[in-house]
Amino acid sequence: MRRIRKAVFPAAGLGTRFLPATKAQPKEMLPLVDKPIIQYVIEEAVASGLTNIIIVTGRGKNAIEDHFDVSYELEQLLQERGKTDLLEQVRAISNMINVSYVRQGETLGLGHAVLMAKDLVGDEPFAVMLGDDIIDSAVPCMKQMTEVFERHGGPVIAVQRVPRQEISAYGVIDGIPEDAGDRVFRIRDMVEKPKADEAPSDLAIIGRYILTPDIFEALERTPRDAGGEIQLTNGLRALKERRALYGYRFEGRRHDAGNKLGFLKATVEFALQREDLGAPFRDYLRGLKL
Ligand code: G1P
Repeated sequence: MRRIRKAVFPAAGLGTRFLPATKAQPKEMLPLVDKPIIQYVIEEAVASGLTNIIIVTGRGKNAIEDHFDVSYELEQLLQERGKTDLLEQVRAISNMINVSYVRQGETLGLGHAVLMAKDLVGDEPFAVMLGDDIIDSAVPCMKQMTEVFERHGGPVIAVQRVPRQEISAYGVIDGIPEDAGDRVFRIRDMVEKPKADEAPSDLAIIGRYILTPDIFEALERTPRDAGGEIQLTNGLRALKERRALYGYRFEGRRHDAGNKLGFLKATVEFALQREDLGAPFRDYLRGLKL
């Protein structure tokens, strides 16, 4: 079993749900408290032992590349002013990862974005991590998943139970429990964004995947959906005919930073957890007449 080293971050989306904030700024760079959302997810990758980062970008996404690059001017300024704490933080960002970028010229769906990383991934298992899903957990979600991958030896897809009325916003799996802990499921089928009454279960796909390189061939043969997009879920559906796929109900709290309410909730919760802000922010919130 090969160790997972590479993580693909699709980041070419237009971020229309956050307009006008995302008119001239990538949505991945919106901060939760003081850290861009993409950095939370990249830190999860690094904490899970994945330091080879592949970001799939598009037009207007230069700020992401700059963020993970060395900033000489800023480092020099912080050094001159003796701001060593900040200097360390800024350096840590560029030292954290070995990053490569590939462009997705047209935004033709998540499956298409993953396909763009084919040459950079090569012939080894890899992770896909979506920046909209921020997962707060004692053991990083991706670390939990690498352990499941090592135990079961097949692709692993993160899932979470969601209420029926929300299910049609997700890919949904039909799985049978593989272990007594009710965490690992052998996937029988999966469907992208079904109608609530047609969903095969309440187990929704969350944006963390461990995939094997045969997904690329499956995606190349996956037809576009009604909206003209190549869905990763549909590529995986084809792959399941050829090998065992697993759903993994991770331990942790997931925030949907891809919509405004989820983004606000995550902001509040992360601020409350901060050593420097938690106490005064809690006092402030208590004082609000809600
Ligand atoms: C994507 C996937 C979907 C998954 C979701 C998780 O959808 O296509 O299967 O449930 O991410 O966040 P998106 O939210 O990008 O439309």
